[in-house]
Amino acid sequence: MEKVLGTPMNWRELYEQKKTTAEEAVKLIKSNDRVIFGHCICEPEGLIDAMVANHDAYRNVHITHMVSLGKGEYTNPEYKDNFTFDGIFAGAGTRKSLAEGRGDVIPVYFSELPIWMRRGILNFDVCLVMMSPPDQWGYCNLGVESGYTFQAIRSAKIVIAQINENVPFAYGDTHIHISQLDAVVEMNAPLAESKPAPIGDVEKQIGEYCASLIEDESTLQLGIGAIPDAVLSSLKGHKHLGIHSEMIADGVLDLVEAGVIDCSAKTLHRGQIIVTFLMGTKRLYDFADHNPMLMLRPVDYVNDPAIIAKNNKMVSINSALQVDFMGQVVADSIGTRQFSGVGGQVDFVRGAARAEDGKGISIIAMPSITTKKDGTVISKITPYIDNGAAVTTNRYDVDYIITEYGIARMKGKALKDRARALISIAHPSAVDHLEQAFRERFNTPL
Ligand code: COA
Repeated sequence: MEKVLGTPMNWRELYEQKKTTAEEAVKLIKSNDRVIFGHCICEPEGLIDAMVANHDAYRNVHITHMVSLGKGEYTNPEYKDNFTFDGIFAGAGTRKSLAEGRGDVIPVYFSELPIWMRRGILNFDVCLVMMSPPDQWGYCNLGVESGYTFQAIRSAKIVIAQINENVPFAYGDTHIHISQLDAVVEMNAPLAESKPAPIGDVEKQIGEYCASLIEDESTLQLGIGAIPDAVLSSLKGHKHLGIHSEMIADGVLDLVEAGVIDCSAKTLHRGQIIVTFLMGTKRLYDFADHNPMLMLRPVDYVNDPAIIAKNNKMVSINSALQVDFMGQVVADSIGTRQFSGVGGQVDFVRGAARAEDGKGISIIAMPSITTKKDGTVISKITPYIDNGAAVTTNRYDVDYIITEYGIARMKGKALKDRARALISIAHPSAVDHLEQAFRERFNTPL
């Protein structure tokens, strides 16, 4: 039974009844339970630290979350009998454990995650989450996230909330009543921050190529990584841009302040930035606070391709680790290693393609080369994807690929022409090898 509504009871009494310490609250977790964390900045670090400290009380507790900026200590080898990581997205704190065989990943489109929870495809015993103190009506605010957390709170059998006065009040599907919570723990702490990535010459050039495809009055989705900020910084001369995106980072703020992003031309939610979660610095979280321009909505709404398609001139901008000659995009694995997750990449690629005005486009933008940890420089455009890698955006969905060497459109091109277009935007140091591979693969001259 979902926990949905508020209660006429005096919520202050309820709050006092539910108030406890982190040490006591995590005793509600039992061996073999499935635990889901609030997503991203909504992850309650104080509760997670208490859970890890209480590890001796648990055997085989399954931990699931999507993007996390946390330490991921529950994946450490010494806790392998206590916790198992069933991730939806790998990150800095969890990648190593996956590579070493502890834990696994569950492939799921971000847009479908709340639907899976409602249908019982994924069930959670406990949800650990962070939210603001209650308002005068007894509603706490999720402030930085609605994505899957809004549904996880409704679906989990037990909900434990870290109450943190630094969580902003955001409008949208962010209101959680005290009656929906089983235990509350007051613990103030600064919110986790993700600083903007530096924009070098390569990113700047990529940003400029992306900007050349973006018309005034477009609605943008910006993915995760260094490229989105570079694109935004190239849009200062544009007019009346809007945002309908899974996430935003600090990069949008300069354009909002400059009046470039005003959402005035949006055909869905005119005047409002629509997102599922925020991942930036305090500057972004302050912007969210009581700001009617920003609306946080669950991901099964925001990332639904049919909803995305209601935005005229919808432009989706995401990044990739590798693109092969057919335009297959690998964005979340490096060979057999899980690097991140699908997130909303495919949701937005498909939604933009179906934009009702016929003017939607999707862009996959990435530097042409990368340097591996051992110092080897490799081309991100390759004849074949790495052995064991998984395709994120497939060759039927992919549209524009951009590197610092130009723009290659995949749609409408046969395979050989796709490969030719991709070689034309590859790094000069990789071209000889790619041309040779072209001749071998297609048994024809370039
Ligand atoms: N082979 C081996 N290693 C590679 C590689 C390749 N082809 N391409 C990149 N790498 C390495 C880089 O060297 C870098 O290593 P480092 O961490 O040691 O520096 C690392 O992988 C990350 O690459 P980078 O280009 O810096 O990634 P990013 O931070 O810009 O993020 C994605 C790019 C693709 C990983 C990221 O956008 C993602 O996870 N996408 C999937 C989800 C998504 O698109 N969501 C969109 C909606 S929010």
